[in-house]
Amino acid sequence: MMNIKYLEKSRLFKLDTNNTSYVIGVVDEEGFLGHAYYGARIADDDVSYLMRIYENPKVPSVNNRDRSSFLDTFPTEFSGNNVGDYRESAIAVTDKNGASGIQFLYKGHRIIDGKPGIKGLPATFEGESKAMTLEIDVVDATLGIEGTLSYSIFEDSDAITRSVRIKNSSEDTIYLDKLMSMCLDMDDNNYKMLMLHGSWARERHIEYRQIGYGKQSVSSTRGESSHQEHPFIALVGENTTQNTGEVYGFNFVYSGNFLAQVEKNQFDSLRVVMGIHPDNFRFKLNAGDEFYAPEVVMVYSNNGLGQMTRTYHDLYRNHLIRSPYLKKPRPVLINNWEATYFDFDNEKLLDIARTAKECGIEMLVMDDGWFGYRNDDNSSLGDWQVNENKIKGGLKKFVDDVNAIGLKFGIWFEPEMISPDSDLYRAHPDWAIAIPDRIPCRSRNQYVLDLTRPEVRDYAYNCVANILKSANIEYVKWDMNRQLTDISSACLDKDRQGELMHRYVLAMYEMQERLITDFPNLLLENCSGGGARFDPGMFYYSPQIWCSDDTDAIERLSIQEGTALIYPLSTMGAHVSVCPNHTVGRNTPFETRGNVALAGTFGYELDVTKLSEEDKAAIPKQIDIYHKYNELIRLGDYYRLASYSKNNLYDCYEVVSKDKSEALITFVQVLNQPNMHSVNIKIDGLDDNKIYRIEGTDEAYRGLTLKNAGLLISRPWGDFQSMLIHLVEE
Ligand code: GLA
Repeated sequence: MMNIKYLEKSRLFKLDTNNTSYVIGVVDEEGFLGHAYYGARIADDDVSYLMRIYENPKVPSVNNRDRSSFLDTFPTEFSGNNVGDYRESAIAVTDKNGASGIQFLYKGHRIIDGKPGIKGLPATFEGESKAMTLEIDVVDATLGIEGTLSYSIFEDSDAITRSVRIKNSSEDTIYLDKLMSMCLDMDDNNYKMLMLHGSWARERHIEYRQIGYGKQSVSSTRGESSHQEHPFIALVGENTTQNTGEVYGFNFVYSGNFLAQVEKNQFDSLRVVMGIHPDNFRFKLNAGDEFYAPEVVMVYSNNGLGQMTRTYHDLYRNHLIRSPYLKKPRPVLINNWEATYFDFDNEKLLDIARTAKECGIEMLVMDDGWFGYRNDDNSSLGDWQVNENKIKGGLKKFVDDVNAIGLKFGIWFEPEMISPDSDLYRAHPDWAIAIPDRIPCRSRNQYVLDLTRPEVRDYAYNCVANILKSANIEYVKWDMNRQLTDISSACLDKDRQGELMHRYVLAMYEMQERLITDFPNLLLENCSGGGARFDPGMFYYSPQIWCSDDTDAIERLSIQEGTALIYPLSTMGAHVSVCPNHTVGRNTPFETRGNVALAGTFGYELDVTKLSEEDKAAIPKQIDIYHKYNELIRLGDYYRLASYSKNNLYDCYEVVSKDKSEALITFVQVLNQPNMHSVNIKIDGLDDNKIYRIEGTDEAYRGLTLKNAGLLISRPWGDFQSMLIHLVEE
């Protein structure tokens, strides 16, 4: 049972999820807030000894001369700055005198039912099960700055969420130079650091780093969570596998700049911090002002990486994604980007729509190029009027035509951007983010709109809303194709320029909130040059995100493995495209492209009128397979059984229904090998005692047998071949 208690005698807070405990201590007369324990569940014993407060140097009340050494060794719950702890600070300020010292001490606390939201920010919520929250008030009495450290737990989850808010309760203005959302001190146990690294078309590849002395971090200062590094790290035990061993995961519910860092100090203890990146960040807080730091989701598992994965998947499905589509099958869509790029008109799209309909596809999505005079990526962002040279007769007529064919209709936008070659830019050059007197950096020949200005935000939002109101549009792909540079706003005071990056993210969230409020039935898919803003923050607004511009089935194995390490399969935008693949030139079987896309939202990104008869004929079959398995894939438990990125030969993963009555195994033989036995794959997640039949055969085995002895999978002939194996309870 989950619970949060205050153990009065030992001055400890104890948070218990079903299988984990997290213990915070109040120490010494001064009220230092320390971290005692995080890990597998423990009893309600007094574990204050874990904070080592009676080892040398002792607490300040016993050994006041040595206060700085105390702070530098004490496992703190939230580190201060410039007063003795030389490790990474969780907060930094500049006070009225220009000094930067700050140290929070315990002031009070509340244990409440439920989970309050975080103003202006995405956050997990109580949902259909129960949640409890601990709020610890802290204060720096010298500065008059107060803080609240919040911790929430859920009845149906082993995740613990954390966030921080601070308030300037003094009469003076202060500047907040840094505020991490979490700080966790713990002993090192030879952990490795797992991170997700990538680039455009190669997002979220799993990487391990040995944790050495000093600091190791991943971060983004690009104004979005980014292709390159991801707001997730995990500490992974030396011998941890998919189903054994320890792992601590940390995921940031935020879509802008972040820092995730592990520091190993002289005593072999670790400090993990995660929060908004302090570079280009400075918030002015006048008397009475507050600042809310985004949420971190921590998951501890001592049953391997797989259990951590499933905890994140369930938490995000049950407590973060709000869209009504979360629990509904998504329409099988066809997107014209790889089919036509900018070269299309209504006739071409209607041809695609007609053939798509014959194949069983359910929605046409018109991608980039339908507005302004955009025939390549050099113009028109900001001019969101339909180009009637391409869409003759206008959008309403075109959407009606698509609907008449029997398809739903969706559309692409990039509302946060402005092309220098656009009517909008000619009218409002100051709407672009730029530093005065400096030529701003272009990327994809475009600038970023300063959404922190209400008039700019309203303009951008209304462009989207007006188009949506003008026709029967049921889906939007919201793209963001460049990262932020030249950070400066024409409308912020000099001493508030450091607020722009965070205010930008808040403004974008506000626009998305308006969109889903005004159009509650809209299916929203976020996107950013592929998957550069694929993060939990965005899932609060959209149930799916385009995972990568790489649609090659083999590259996708690694991208989807890294993405599914934390995010549910139902969130991963995945499409079947043509070969040779447009990003890697690889030829893979149509069937494999379908099988791999099945582990995501599933759809097509090709000109169906140009397919060979054989491939075209395969589509209705693939769509039947999608419908057959989609509920299982959307709602089930995901198990990683083998990894091509590790073995360089084959990939294998499985989804098991919650009631364990069926499972779908996907096996992809990336490289064939001569003269080899069939592959033995141990099938996890089944009910030990149930008997499962391999659909289409007479073979049936007990779950326990499949788990321990494994299933023999005979290698398909050729490279890039794949198969689906459906296990059904007898
Ligand atoms: C990004 C997206 C693509 C496509 C293009 C259009 O790269 O990821 O899917 O929409 O923009 O310009």
